[in-house]
Amino acid sequence: MEATKRADHAVSNTATAAEHDFMVVSNRLPVDRCTAEESGCEDGWRRSPGGLVTALAPMMTKTDGAWVGWHGAPDETVEPFSHGGIDLVPVQLSTQDIELFYEGFSNATLWPLYHDVIAPPEFHRTWWDAYRRVNRRFADAVAHHAAPGATVWVQDYQLQLVPKMLRDARPDLRIGFFNHIPFPPPEIFAQLPWRQAIIDGLLGADLVGFQRSSDAGNFMRSARRFLGASVKQQQVHVKGGDGATTHIARAQAFPISIDVQQISELARRPEIIERARQIRRDLGNPKTILLGVDRLDYTKGIRHRLKAYEELLADGKVTVEDAALIQVASPSRERVEQYRLLREEVEGTVGHINGTYDTMQNTAVRYLHHSYPVEEMVALYLAADVMLVTALRDGMNLVAKEYVTARTNNDGALVLSEFAGAADQLKQALLMNPHDIDGLKDTIMKAVNMQPAEAARRMRAMRKQILDHDVDRWSSEFLTALNEKVIRDDT
Ligand code: F6P
Repeated sequence: MEATKRADHAVSNTATAAEHDFMVVSNRLPVDRCTAEESGCEDGWRRSPGGLVTALAPMMTKTDGAWVGWHGAPDETVEPFSHGGIDLVPVQLSTQDIELFYEGFSNATLWPLYHDVIAPPEFHRTWWDAYRRVNRRFADAVAHHAAPGATVWVQDYQLQLVPKMLRDARPDLRIGFFNHIPFPPPEIFAQLPWRQAIIDGLLGADLVGFQRSSDAGNFMRSARRFLGASVKQQQVHVKGGDGATTHIARAQAFPISIDVQQISELARRPEIIERARQIRRDLGNPKTILLGVDRLDYTKGIRHRLKAYEELLADGKVTVEDAALIQVASPSRERVEQYRLLREEVEGTVGHINGTYDTMQNTAVRYLHHSYPVEEMVALYLAADVMLVTALRDGMNLVAKEYVTARTNNDGALVLSEFAGAADQLKQALLMNPHDIDGLKDTIMKAVNMQPAEAARRMRAMRKQILDHDVDRWSSEFLTALNEKVIRDDT
């Protein structure tokens, strides 16, 4: 076996590291703090919701795996521990790291830059320094805990420098990276003062996965333009300091999906079906329930959706007696300025719409600034005749996939932005451009008035797509591709 080169500065959590054959690295660990009375709480932690952990948990236990990430409490050191059969390696973040690395560079520089500059990205050298420093800490933790020749899978935009840092410290590792959000075209990416370092960081991986093939194409065009990389068939021969090829980095689309089994099972539970009926009764039994479910993020097109809905009320195309819009907006990144502004704007708009159109009996928009457990989400999906996904840019949008999966009777209509990654797979949705408010209004009315036969035809096709492509398939396809031998044509 190839000799393992250890990073001298890699000791971060424990003096003697466990060796793991498979490691996942993400900004957050897949557990949240909880109190004993909360369901699923074990020793003060419970598994976070979401398909990623469900998909990777079996692989973790089978291969002596571990997950590296932040545990969610600023300034607190937590020793490695096990939860639900998964070994967890916490990385510490200070209050200052949260401010500069997470709220700053990750969510006020990269996030808007990678989402079509819907909000203006800010470029600050202190944020960049923190991003490098924190990425180094994550890379060190992995380098310290990975067994010789281990497979490492780095997740998302907060950790784009980790692949290269790891490659330098541990050339024996097989390194994958998956970007959960879009990758911008080079014309936009060009704005980033540290664009070369980011591309260089990602090219440290053997395989860089994206949601859409357009994202993979954008990345490779940037590699060519900003690093002068020679790209053939979405592959780059990455050179070391001596000019020799160290490895081949490939870019490819792997559209992420959801835990289909979990959502389908919940959607068939009698108490959840009853809860959906209850929701409809609570709203006064309207003919049509429309639903939006988003993190309160400016990329989600919530303002566009509300504008279109308000105009439909004003035009008399929908009335508060016949229709109810539920908007779940879960709190997100509340200390970042653009998110604060968005919340004010959305809440002002909802207040304005409700003040204008509500009656004593009916409310135009039920606005819920909360997060709900998955059981309640599935009840909402079952209650909703029309699902509105109007993102201005979205890596994938798993809410769209969850809604379709929950519609076990093949009814309901999905209005879906063409700027969400899900549009590549859910071609039978009512696709639209959310910037075109008249087009959005027409599409909403088409969904409201859709005949059952057409709804069933569309829903059946979309359900088939998702049922065949769940999150397990996503992770196994990525890991199979990561471990494939790539033919080197320069040797
Ligand atoms: O979509 C990217 C993502 O990082 C998801 O992985 C995550 O669920 C979401 O954004 C919210 O992230 P956070 O609350 O950690 O900023």
